[in-house]
Amino acid sequence: MKIPSNIVTLIAGIAITLISLWYGQNHGLMPVAASDEATQVDDIFAFMMTVATGLFLLIQGILIYSLIKFRRKKGDQTDGPPMEGNIPLEIVWTAIPTVIVFVLSLYSFEVYNNMGGLDPMSSHDHGTKMAANHSEMVAFDTDKRVALGLGVPLGSGDQAPLVVNVNGIQYAWIFTYPESGIVSGELHVPVNRPVQLKIEASDVLHALWLPEFRIKQDAIPGRASELAFLPRRTGAYPIICAELCGAYHGGMKSMLYVKSEDEYNQWVQENTLAQADSAEKVALNTREMTEEQYLAPYIQEMGINRETLAALVK
Ligand code: CUA
Repeated sequence: MKIPSNIVTLIAGIAITLISLWYGQNHGLMPVAASDEATQVDDIFAFMMTVATGLFLLIQGILIYSLIKFRRKKGDQTDGPPMEGNIPLEIVWTAIPTVIVFVLSLYSFEVYNNMGGLDPMSSHDHGTKMAANHSEMVAFDTDKRVALGLGVPLGSGDQAPLVVNVNGIQYAWIFTYPESGIVSGELHVPVNRPVQLKIEASDVLHALWLPEFRIKQDAIPGRASELAFLPRRTGAYPIICAELCGAYHGGMKSMLYVKSEDEYNQWVQENTLAQADSAEKVALNTREMTEEQYLAPYIQEMGINRETLAALVK
């Protein structure tokens, strides 16, 4: 029995579509998505993967089919039929990529905009001030907050973002928390609160890369850049330098800890105290914690401030 070729084409088309749709969702190439931004990036990646898989199967399928079907028969010394130009075919294979690229550019533009890429300064409320007078503009410049990077994402709520200053040096990341004065070699953030990183470098170019958050930003000496994200998943995630910055570039790694709000507050309490304390003492033995240090995380529950606690335990 001979199956009509248009039926075969239809079945092949359906098969390619189904395989592409399945593989687009099940490629397994990405690490866990730990932020809202990651989910958006993964969606566009899944879409691209679907289109790419479809094109791959279509083109390779036709190629392999043609190689087998039109291979030279044994003993056949004749040439193939002369063929030149096929206007409708050329229009089709130009139109298809054009449409794909057009859709992809609109989609990626939308994602970039959602991530705050079009307006990294939105959170500073500087736009109106800037227009107000020239001296404000000078102040703005010296502040070095330039429109570079991804700002606070749209729809990240009324919650004020946690601002962390990031400094890249050979070969480490230094995180400074203006809110609490903590200086750390690791980044600790609470879950479900927008985070805004103000990134700089002290020596050479570095790049802060958070693979699980699908964001990456250059750290440039003398120029501030930004990165904002909304962490949605607690856990420990790698921070990687993604710019060749010297002999030990490969070792320039740190960790990002996304914690529950309580755990984060506890970390802030502990580190605020530890850093204030270590300024006075040379070494801090955690096995010999004073009552004050031990009670520090519970200050909030006790409804007293740190000075009161210090007075109580002395
Ligand atoms: Cu810093 Cu590579």
